[in-house]
Amino acid sequence: MSKVNITINGQALQVDAGMTILEAAQAAGIDIPTFCHDPELTRAGACRICVVEVAGARNLPASCTTPVAEGMVIETESERVQKARRSILELIWADHPHDCLTCEKTGSCKLQDYSYRYNVKESPYKGEARDIPLDDTNPFFFRDLNKCILCGKCIRKCHEINGAGAIDFMYRGFGTKVTTAFDDPIEESSCVFCGMCVDICPVGALIPKQGLQQGRSWEVDKVLTTCPYCGCGCTFYLHVRNDKIVGVTPNFDGPMKGHLCAKGRFGWDFVDSPDRLQTPLIKKDGEFVEASWEEALDLIAAKLKEVRAQYGADAIAGLSSARITNEENYLFQKLLRSLGTNNVDHCARL
Ligand code: SF4
Ligand code: SF4
Ligand code: SF4
Ligand code: FES
Repeated sequence: MSKVNITINGQALQVDAGMTILEAAQAAGIDIPTFCHDPELTRAGACRICVVEVAGARNLPASCTTPVAEGMVIETESERVQKARRSILELIWADHPHDCLTCEKTGSCKLQDYSYRYNVKESPYKGEARDIPLDDTNPFFFRDLNKCILCGKCIRKCHEINGAGAIDFMYRGFGTKVTTAFDDPIEESSCVFCGMCVDICPVGALIPKQGLQQGRSWEVDKVLTTCPYCGCGCTFYLHVRNDKIVGVTPNFDGPMKGHLCAKGRFGWDFVDSPDRLQTPLIKKDGEFVEASWEEALDLIAAKLKEVRAQYGADAIAGLSSARITNEENYLFQKLLRSLGTNNVDHCARL
């Protein structure tokens, strides 16, 4: 690939031709703020928070859509750039609820982070404010469109990655909002509740219902693990606080690139269900009674030996689960074959 020579913040760099300024900066460890950019999605160039100063250019180009060119001299934090970013933040705050104290997104909100970074406390622009009712119609996440900054990432994720096409921009000007066909509640739309929009929303417009008020983002431990629901083996981070799961976020560095289905993304509350078995149960005199693992495993081994001795190994069969990992399923069939039977099946075939 051909290379071009550029300078960012005084640092001489040689980067791939065709890269955007944002990509070149990120590769060099230089942080440029973004709202509407996502490397997986088409470039929208909508929010302009990523503007930079390019020597010789009249305006401030959006770094996420502007390709590098030979000899470009770029400043990412010049006074002019910072002033432009402050103006963008002030415009957003002109119509944004001042709700950080109780907002679930506090600590992981880009609007909050950039307002801190550029010292924007409030907006000089006073005018009408949106008053859109909270969409509470689905079991998985709230949609508070009063906090939406119209970056459009959720729409592109839903169309370009999920393919559901459940949401889009509707109305014009001040009335513009992200909503479903006919502005119906999302539960009545083609949404499949994958939660991808929730995961990439840069602000608190889309908030999971589980885990509400159960810990700020810096208070939870994030544990990388594998989803137990099916053999795809998607990985994600369980958010754990006080030994309880309080949330899930995708692992964007994993092979599934952070894409989860509704079950993996939202279906983890069974973990703490009081209905779950805590110990093995053995039926004694027609009643299930709690037993130790040693007792249960000894009984299983004895019964398997008994069946094999009396009827032969083919009388033994094992049914495995799609809810365990491929590795565990592998071990299960090894166990059955070591008993002398090939009768192994799996509930996924249902
Ligand atoms: S979305 Fe962000 S900026 Fe807005 S109230 Fe919540 S934490 Fe504050
Ligand atoms: S949850 Fe998934 S399907 Fe539903 S709107 Fe969000 S991205 Fe689209
Ligand atoms: S809901 Fe979030 S991701 Fe979607 S447009 Fe609004 S701010 Fe962007
Ligand atoms: S991040 Fe570049 S225009 Fe939004």
